[in-house]
Amino acid sequence: MERKGRELIKGDVKQIIEMLNKALSDEWLAYYQYWIGSKVVAGQMRGQVVAELTEHAGDELRHAGMITDRILQLGGTPVLKPEDWYKLTNCGYDAPEDPAVKPVVKQNIKGEQCAITVYKKLSESLKDKDSISFYMVMEILKDEIEHEDDLMNLLDDMQE
Ligand SMILES: [Fe+2]
Ligand SMILES: [Fe+2]
Repeated sequence: MERKGRELIKGDVKQIIEMLNKALSDEWLAYYQYWIGSKVVAGQMRGQVVAELTEHAGDELRHAGMITDRILQLGGTPVLKPEDWYKLTNCGYDAPEDPAVKPVVKQNIKGEQCAITVYKKLSESLKDKDSISFYMVMEILKDEIEHEDDLMNLLDDMQE
């Protein structure tokens, strides 16, 4: 039986699934970047930085879950192999090779700014095609803006 929910899509479903899988790959890489960053980070305000990175990691994982559920609703297959994250990612991955607090926080700010650009574009292309994915993306975008803000504030609080 045809799914009524899928009739609401006005665009190319395959293309929407592809865009969502790219975002899903970004979320996994962002999750790991925050998670491993929270483990290796060292220096002033370490406790506060760890708490923030851990919270953001949890949010990125939740975003990955939201996007995966939507891909499945659309009849698509979410990325199944981690090796594909690197092929599909928009924002890439920055390894926290320098574990000092400032470089780690700055790398993650860069990641958030990329995510904001990606979700802004994605929301524009989904707006007239798939309103459910559009609202989901807006919800994620709101979180990424908060993440950028949190990290900027942390950086401001750090001594020169
Ligand atoms: Fe995210
Ligand atoms: Fe984020």
